[in-house]
Amino acid sequence: VTTEVDAALRSANEVLFVDTGLATPAFLAARCPRITPLFEDSYAESGARLSSYHHMAARTLASALDHPPVVFAMHGHPTVFSYPAFLVRELATELGLEVRVLPGISAHDTVLAALWIDPSVRGLLQYEATDLLLRRRALLPDVPTLIWQIGLVESRLYSKARSRPERFHALRDYLLQSYPQGHRAIAIYTSPHPRVPPTRFEFAIEEMPSHAEHLHAGFTLYLPPAVERPIADADLLARLDDPAHLARVTFSSE
Ligand SMILES: C[S@@+](CC[C@H](N)C(=O)[O-])C[C@H]1O[C@@H](n2cnc3c(N)ncnc32)[C@H](O)[C@@H]1O
Repeated sequence: VTTEVDAALRSANEVLFVDTGLATPAFLAARCPRITPLFEDSYAESGARLSSYHHMAARTLASALDHPPVVFAMHGHPTVFSYPAFLVRELATELGLEVRVLPGISAHDTVLAALWIDPSVRGLLQYEATDLLLRRRALLPDVPTLIWQIGLVESRLYSKARSRPERFHALRDYLLQSYPQGHRAIAIYTSPHPRVPPTRFEFAIEEMPSHAEHLHAGFTLYLPPAVERPIADADLLARLDDPAHLARVTFSSE
């Protein structure tokens, strides 16, 4: 939560939130007199996730019409792997309501910190696990890659059930088309609370199914680069430290 989000929570007439963190209700209640948990009401075992998102958006908009301003809060960043925020915006626009989105600390941030990844060095590729398989998206084994929502792969239905190894067979096979046997990957769930330690499993890609039971909905898979991409533009490399080149591409600073 940033200071900007903190101010929005304090000025809201209601905060509707989707989060199961134990500390979340107390945190929000200290900032807003009316807090409404949406998680339990929205999700049903084996129910369509899309229906859950419709429910969250409908509840938020009903409140926004009745006693604005309201906040719709969820863990992480609202536009990162989170369709409900887009749904709220779409419906609110139809109703003539104003919507602002405020950035939050995402798993994107916590995973980069936990694994010491700097995207400036080799870039960073990110896909959603099921989308990767559906579209056969291109993998680049020289680029660090994050695969989101591995624990949910191959289903749009909500479930608390643990996964069987079979869930990961197609994902494993697809990754092995681009990465060598034995290439090590890391499944990571960064700490959601100061008292909860992070969870991390490191395994060769072909071993992923044997970790199925532990790979819950909160995990992200990190694939470190398997190969180095050589420099293709030697002329540009030579110009990088050349003051004459800098002078050619900039205005005089005097
Ligand atoms: C529905 S998305 C929500 C992401 C959230 N909006 C954000 O910005 O972090 C859930 C996915 O985010 C990733 N994720 C969420 N929390 C995580 C954590 N603590 N550690 C690693 N990945 C996490 C996982 O890939 C998970 O399947």
